[in-house]
Amino acid sequence: MSDESGDGTEVELEARLEEQDRFEPPESFVEGANVTDEAIYEEFEENWPECWERAADLLSWDEAHDTVLEDGDAPFYEWFTGGELNASYNCLDRHVEDGRKNQAAIKWEGELGETRTYTYGDLLNEVEAFAAALRELGVEEDDVVTLYMPMIPELPIAMLACARIGAPHSVVFAGFSADALATRMNSADSEYLVTCDGYYRRGDALNHKEKADKGLRGVDHDVQTVVVDRLGDELTHFLGNDAHDYDDLVDAHEGATVEPVSRDAEDMLFLMYTSGTTGEPKGVKHTTGGYLSYAAWTSHAVLDVKPEDTYWCAADIGWITGHSYIVYGPLALGTTTMMYEGTPDYPERDRLWELIEKNRVDIFYTAPTAIRSFMKWGEEYPAGHDLSSLRLLGTVGEPINPRAWKWYYKHIGGEECPIVDTWWQTETGGMMITTLPGINTMKPGSAGPPLPGIDAQVVDVEGTPVDPGDAGYLTVQNPWPGMLRTLYDNDDRFLTEYWQEYSDPDAVNRQLTTPHSTESREDADEWVYFPEDGATIDEDGFVTVLGRVDDVINVSGHRLGTMEIESAIVGVPGVAEAAVVGGDHEVKGQAVYAYVILEDGQEPTDDLRERIVDGVEDGIGPIARPEQVVFTPELPKTRSGKIMRRLLEDIASGDELGDTSTLRNPGVVDDIAEQVETD
Ligand code: WT7
Repeated sequence: MSDESGDGTEVELEARLEEQDRFEPPESFVEGANVTDEAIYEEFEENWPECWERAADLLSWDEAHDTVLEDGDAPFYEWFTGGELNASYNCLDRHVEDGRKNQAAIKWEGELGETRTYTYGDLLNEVEAFAAALRELGVEEDDVVTLYMPMIPELPIAMLACARIGAPHSVVFAGFSADALATRMNSADSEYLVTCDGYYRRGDALNHKEKADKGLRGVDHDVQTVVVDRLGDELTHFLGNDAHDYDDLVDAHEGATVEPVSRDAEDMLFLMYTSGTTGEPKGVKHTTGGYLSYAAWTSHAVLDVKPEDTYWCAADIGWITGHSYIVYGPLALGTTTMMYEGTPDYPERDRLWELIEKNRVDIFYTAPTAIRSFMKWGEEYPAGHDLSSLRLLGTVGEPINPRAWKWYYKHIGGEECPIVDTWWQTETGGMMITTLPGINTMKPGSAGPPLPGIDAQVVDVEGTPVDPGDAGYLTVQNPWPGMLRTLYDNDDRFLTEYWQEYSDPDAVNRQLTTPHSTESREDADEWVYFPEDGATIDEDGFVTVLGRVDDVINVSGHRLGTMEIESAIVGVPGVAEAAVVGGDHEVKGQAVYAYVILEDGQEPTDDLRERIVDGVEDGIGPIARPEQVVFTPELPKTRSGKIMRRLLEDIASGDELGDTSTLRNPGVVDDIAEQVETD
């Protein structure tokens, strides 16, 4: 960070900021905020679960619900049962009917500087045309349609077209590999794929279709494919026998009327695959009524979205953040949502600030890893732009260190915007722990209190709440509308991965994976949700999230299972065994470190190292690329043969090594540590 400044007051300001650990929401923001009365916390508590009607009331329903929460078959909870609605109607038609047909719904910025604006009217027309086309291809209600596209407007259009006809979508992040696409299509039995020819990264055209085709060769059933032409002539828009051209389909159905299908509140809206402890990605199921209500409610209460805003969440729609806070939440509330195709440093490191200035963006939501990059690049990039349109900032994906928080507050928010540090997960559907920007004091580094209606607690191995300041396991003790309902086709895994009945202390302890006592709990039929994060809580009930407690690492705010990466590495010829851990990284938060044992007679060459890196890119995607591949003849193991991951993590982070006395082979640790470069 370039902090040099000759100006005395500037230096004083920095010093004051550095010491300050509490920040009040600026008056200018509070005046116009959606939620400002702190009685909301009590109202939700006293009137639970009926309080959630507030979220449902933000939507238009074809049929009102009979019951807010059905908990007879917990933890298979159901929300707003008996209610019926359509997500695309809620995101489009109702705003057009309200006379806002000509308001911008999506403002898209291409990497090369092209722009496209879709009004609510335009978006509805194209969604209807594509919905008609999908139907003609044979898509029926409840068929899973896979969408494998980068940040182009056709992605949200396809999502909404699926939602219109009641076909759940499964979006696969465009940066994921062909293998990752195949695994997800096979797992979801998805017979339809919408993809594109290619896209731009730092000015270069990438061939995406080739990757999609390669993925399709790994799919075990027939697939109908639609291809969007993003690149024009730049890459030959090659359509195989079976592939359909998106533009042809939409042209052929121009002007079509497709009635939005009334979906049961509990009907699946989409699947989203995410990483877990074991190798297989998990298909998280989200519903139409509960998820959409929750995405809309949190967009309203936390992001303070209003129809007249130009709102920008700089995530990728391929992750849950983009689903909830680029597409569903903001469009349900009828605002203008921005989409940016490219990277923040192309063509220059001020691209985002240029876009904020140009579009007069007033709400901006990004990830700590991005903020740390901006800090490294220097404050002169934002300083060169007029960012005074901003009134609220947000972060998500990983803990934000106080220094990055303050940099964001000062250099992007001009000390006039509250920051919401929002803790949540793919599984929670929407934000769970964060300050309400019009109410709470902010404490940099701590996400804040649980949202109204969310009973998050930090507990020890016995499930007892810890004292303020003590580390424990984060839990959520009551259900909420946006929660996942199950893992696709795998109720058992849903139960064992996330929930344990308190009446079964052994199960709780298995879940917590640490030594335990076997004391029994009194409240026998309470189900508790385990997000697999460690945390502390302070006297004010503010939660500081410490990070994952399972074998999942968080690289640049993206979740990667160490086992997935290990299995990609052992698939490389010459490799006998691999252990992957996360090590601290200045910008990414965590980076992938791979410790690899070779087969006998195999030489540890740079060439092999490259093949291992390629193996990970082919198996998962560039995002999982190891920072370092360390060859070692042995891995540190306990006498019972378990790999001591903690030690490998310490080595990767350049930390003091913990106790090595229980190792079968203590000498190996120093040998490995010598090879690892840390900063
Ligand atoms: C994991 C969930 C939520 C969308 C993006 C990631 C970590 C997320 C925060 C935060 C500290 C955070 C947790 C969580 N995480 N937000 N504000 N502070 N940690 O979704 O891929 O499902 O990952 O991200 O470890 O469990 P995801």
